[in-house]
Amino acid sequence: MNKAEVSTLFAQQFNEAPLFVIASPGRINLIGEHVDYNHGFVLPAAIDKYMYVAVSKRNDNQIVLHAADLNQNHQNSLDAPLQPSSSGWPNYVLGVIHDLLAAGYSIAGFNMLITGNIPIGAGVSSSAALECATVFACKHLFDLNISKEAMVTTAQRAENNFVGVNCGVMDQFASMFGKADHVIKLDCADLSYTYFPFKLEGISIVLFDTFVKHTLASSEYNTRREECETGLAALRQKFSIGTFREASLAMLDAASDSITGNVYNRCKYVIEEIARMEAACNHLLAGEIVGFGARMYETHTGLSELYEVSCAELDNIVQNCKKENAIVGARMMGGGFGGCVIALVQTTKVEEVFNRINNEYQNKFGRSMGKYLMQIGDGTRLLD
Ligand code: GLA
Repeated sequence: MNKAEVSTLFAQQFNEAPLFVIASPGRINLIGEHVDYNHGFVLPAAIDKYMYVAVSKRNDNQIVLHAADLNQNHQNSLDAPLQPSSSGWPNYVLGVIHDLLAAGYSIAGFNMLITGNIPIGAGVSSSAALECATVFACKHLFDLNISKEAMVTTAQRAENNFVGVNCGVMDQFASMFGKADHVIKLDCADLSYTYFPFKLEGISIVLFDTFVKHTLASSEYNTRREECETGLAALRQKFSIGTFREASLAMLDAASDSITGNVYNRCKYVIEEIARMEAACNHLLAGEIVGFGARMYETHTGLSELYEVSCAELDNIVQNCKKENAIVGARMMGGGFGGCVIALVQTTKVEEVFNRINNEYQNKFGRSMGKYLMQIGDGTRLLD
């Protein structure tokens, strides 16, 4: 969508032109899954699918939201402390406002129209996109002196405190800092980052959507996080380490009297994934795409068997990807329990392999999977 189209929707709702229109992208992640909250590195990128918000100032203290795609409204006064809404979607906006107010920024009433083309529930972070769009909109509406990094952590805290998902920083960072044709190697310990060019000749980034909505994701996600914290605390009792980044499989095994069962498996996955991500980046730098793909498959196995955040549909797609010579690598992406598989596929073979994998999917689950070709785009921005 362009600025004029979003502005027209805004005018239909609010009978005036918006002051700003913002586009904020969803994200993919090549490798480094479930390690952002474990002081690991991740390799995400912004995609060319967006949440759009259009905003104007009001003369009162009301926040008036219109979700155009749901045809729903939400209104909140700024005169009382903001509380999470039972409708769900307003919390991505309210959580950001709540955090900005708590940090001492001045926010007054505003109108906001929300629309977008990011598939919802597909694991490509429409929620982070809306949070980033909101904080970006506030920066411009109220002339806030806030850095890009602070906008990212504000958006993340909105999700943690208002939505109730104790997520890491990857999604919001990728949405805000995305750069066309580049992946971001983000050090989640200190938010330092480097951009890597990611344009592979003849290879496309394809998402296969299970259409399984990841409803389990928030409770299970928070449980995984707690299990990792438990495991790390036990490792620290035995070894003088600060984070998982300094831990090794040998240490984990040496602590296996106190770290057992699920907690052991979660820690094993995290330690392996942190090392795998580093190996994958070296493959990328050396142009070894086959090695990179092999690491993606290994990540999937770890997420499925050790971290246990996959599901039958995701496993089925990845298994069938492995049979295809035209697929370099594939794995489930994001929080898990549904959503998409990310696959690197020879561009000329995308249709052919989709049809074969989808046939298997239909045979097993009685319905089709989806397919999206992803371009890597720029991060959150004003449209002009
Ligand atoms: C979700 C979270 C991220 C990250 C991924 C898993 O997308 O929002 O912070 O933890 O899951 O890598």
